[in-house]
Amino acid sequence: MMPKKYYLTTPVYYVNDVPHIGHAYTTIAADVLARYKRGQGYEVHFLTGTDEHGQKVWKAAEAHGKKPQDYVDMVCQRFKAAWQVLGITNDDFIRTTDPRHIECVQKIFSRLLKQGDIYKGEYQGWYCTPCESFWTEGELKEDVEGRKLCPDCGRATELLKEESYFFKLSKYQAKVLDHINQRPDFIKPASRRNEVIQFIKQGLRDLSITRTAFPWGVVVPEDPSHVVYVWFDALINYISAIGYPGDDKLFSKWWPADVHIMGKEIVRFHAVIWPAMLLALDLPLPKTVFGHGWWTVEGEKMSKTSGNVVDPVALSSQYGVDVVRYFILREVAFGADGDFSMTSFINRYNADLANDLGNLLSRTVTMIEKYFGSKVPEPMSKITEELTLAVEKVDQQMDQLALADALGTIWGLISGANNYIEKNAPWNLAKNKEEEKLAEVMVKLYETLLMVARLIAPFMPETSVRMLAQLNPQERSVKKGEPLFPRLQKPTN
Ligand code: ME8
Ligand code: MG
Repeated sequence: MMPKKYYLTTPVYYVNDVPHIGHAYTTIAADVLARYKRGQGYEVHFLTGTDEHGQKVWKAAEAHGKKPQDYVDMVCQRFKAAWQVLGITNDDFIRTTDPRHIECVQKIFSRLLKQGDIYKGEYQGWYCTPCESFWTEGELKEDVEGRKLCPDCGRATELLKEESYFFKLSKYQAKVLDHINQRPDFIKPASRRNEVIQFIKQGLRDLSITRTAFPWGVVVPEDPSHVVYVWFDALINYISAIGYPGDDKLFSKWWPADVHIMGKEIVRFHAVIWPAMLLALDLPLPKTVFGHGWWTVEGEKMSKTSGNVVDPVALSSQYGVDVVRYFILREVAFGADGDFSMTSFINRYNADLANDLGNLLSRTVTMIEKYFGSKVPEPMSKITEELTLAVEKVDQQMDQLALADALGTIWGLISGANNYIEKNAPWNLAKNKEEEKLAEVMVKLYETLLMVARLIAPFMPETSVRMLAQLNPQERSVKKGEPLFPRLQKPTN
């Protein structure tokens, strides 16, 4: 039998930013999915990486007095280091400055030029350098002085007029729209899908895909004064990383991707431009483009200038990696926007982790030690039914990428078990020498904890291991350990 395969990706992140909680969110979500699929017996290919070209990076390198390549070599390390700390199990890391990627972009450009899907023309438009995005007159916001502002970040744009190569995006409008209409699963969640459909219906114009104003990008082989526009360059990472166009075996093993995961602000690039590029190359389209929500911090947009950027590495070293992984995936439904605040972080830590999960484990282990000399009593048959149902539900939720809901189901088991302790008061059963009932209660708690340890593994891999060390399922003989999550003081302001 062919092994089941699963190819998933995050965006390639711009290296001019430090990795923050927003990047960590996407990458952790993808990691949870990758770990989950591996656990289900899939062969998984999990790709992440960095987007290293463009005017902004070029300017940042200059500001640091470095050559662009030296600069990106340095900052790319920050992403790699952050993902290591956060327990990310990516199978590959692509950089848009990798020779494998550059070659691929050049080959694609040459092919599309030759077949007439790329042509030379003149570009005029409003460009936002920080966002690397062009906007039309109608899309811009204007400030009181009449400056044209980027509708995304609110900063001033500049009018650019230059010779440029264009990709015939308009030619693919109908085909892309058909595809979206025929495949409800192509763009998720549904709200994103509707936005994209509306956008396409307004009409797609051909896309300017080269620049001559700066040299830091993939050089157009046929016209070396041009470099390829960052988005056309960056999107190709999803196939350059798996051997396109040279390594057919590797490429056909993984393509099409099962899911591209990203924030909602770049769904348009992935659900319109990218499919058109793939259609031009006669390649199948990814199965799903998932646009999750956007995080604010204490109610504000996160930005270097506001100085409110949350560093997931610092947060992890203070509170633990699994706490960060848990919080960001539990706090908001995957797809919805969320707000990060230290108060809600500490509250969730204390309520869900220290109280609900931590106490359940320590109470159960303590009682099995005390009442049964650490040996778990014999199992009883009726125990598994409720657990089996919960596992099925988690599976369905994971398949829908409903990550917060899956955690909700797992925590339902945990609070159910805590209520079960209160209801059955094992200490009274012990006092009254109701040994059979006591054994039944303990086994049920033990089995629930074992299942919880298994179910949280993709989300909280270290915690799962720590729980299993105390539950010791091989010998079914518990060993009390350190509390999983010592209670924290409320943050003081
Ligand atoms: O857009 N909330 O890179 P980028 C949630 N290089 N997610 C966030 C976030 C926030 N506040 N901030 C960032 C680019 N993200 C391009 C992508 S892909 C072919 C090229 C996450 O560094 C989220 O995944 O601006 C978002 O889409 C991505 O980082 C943007 O990263
Ligand atoms: Mg961005």
